[in-house]
Amino acid sequence: MKTVLVTGGLGFIGSHTAVELLARGYRVVCVDNLANTRADVLDGIAAISGQRPVWANVDLADPVACRSLLAGMPDLAGIIHFAAFKAVGESVQKPLAYYRNNFGSLLNLLEFTAAQPQCRLIFSSSCTVYGQADTLPVREDAPVKPAESPYGNTKQVGEEILRDAARAHGFRAIALRYFNPIGAHPSAKIGELPLGVPQNLVPFITQSAAGLRGPLKVFGNDYPTRDGTCIRDYIHVVDVALAHIYALERLLSGKGSDPVEVFNLGTGTGSTVLEVISAFERSTGKKLQWEFAARRPGDVIAAYANTEQAAAGLGWRAERTLDQCMADAWRWQCTLPGK
Ligand code: UD1
Repeated sequence: MKTVLVTGGLGFIGSHTAVELLARGYRVVCVDNLANTRADVLDGIAAISGQRPVWANVDLADPVACRSLLAGMPDLAGIIHFAAFKAVGESVQKPLAYYRNNFGSLLNLLEFTAAQPQCRLIFSSSCTVYGQADTLPVREDAPVKPAESPYGNTKQVGEEILRDAARAHGFRAIALRYFNPIGAHPSAKIGELPLGVPQNLVPFITQSAAGLRGPLKVFGNDYPTRDGTCIRDYIHVVDVALAHIYALERLLSGKGSDPVEVFNLGTGTGSTVLEVISAFERSTGKKLQWEFAARRPGDVIAAYANTEQAAAGLGWRAERTLDQCMADAWRWQCTLPGK
């Protein structure tokens, strides 16, 4: 049985990935210091999987704690590294906290893989590295644009650190550039747990529909798109989780040539904000209150993925529809008040 360390394993994408790993017979160790989630996510994973992964409450940015955790795992097959701060606005307010946390944990993990090159690594990157891409759908070889925020910078520079370390120390890694992961597990036992007012579109929609927030503000109605609102590539979190399994298996089977390969994780289809609202209303039967508001600074007009490289290299494509995403996100939201 192969052991995989899932950092941020109680977070949104980490918990869904833990479920898919367990379903395929991997031994899963979740590391999470609960910076942005709750311990009872473990109950959700266990309820779906019929088994409970090991959970280590460790701050990976602490070199001593990280080293002592990894010292007990010399035969680790892989690390899937989700643990990171991810709020764009907050990163502008607290850049040093973002750099210390996101780089600190990455460096500590890379020191381990440098010494144990048989251990494969998967790094959570973001489509934010493309900024407003010149050509859509955006391919992996599109130029990386100057980061709009310290958060975005931690992803860009994180990829560079990964490349330098893998080349120098002879280990293999994959960076996955996520577009907009949304939805929840169809069992409604795990999902997204935004703290405070959600900054991202879909958690705001579900909380607004549940009466926990006021009307959704649609940021901008004069973008050069088919209905004036921004276009994004929304992808079901279970599809994102599955891509990590394919990426891990590619690394374990020794396929691929570059020390670090990069793949987009998107559906290939862009949706406007108004189309997301329609999908929510159609798939849940709930009417959403919304109004137009000013543009949000830093938003790109449109971003959606070219999916060919992921299909060819990983043998993976997103399969779930936007309507499924919204129905699952809503089912999860409906479980939350009682939690
Ligand atoms: C945001 C981040 C991105 C990060 C990603 C995942 C910004 C500028 N970008 O992506 O770097 O990788 O989250 O955490 O913050 N919208 C509304 N009303 C709302 C919320 C959003 O109209 O209340 C619109 C936005 O203008 C955008 C779309 O919905 O057009 C999606 O927004 P969001 O869910 O925040 O994702 P991104 O901005 O794509």
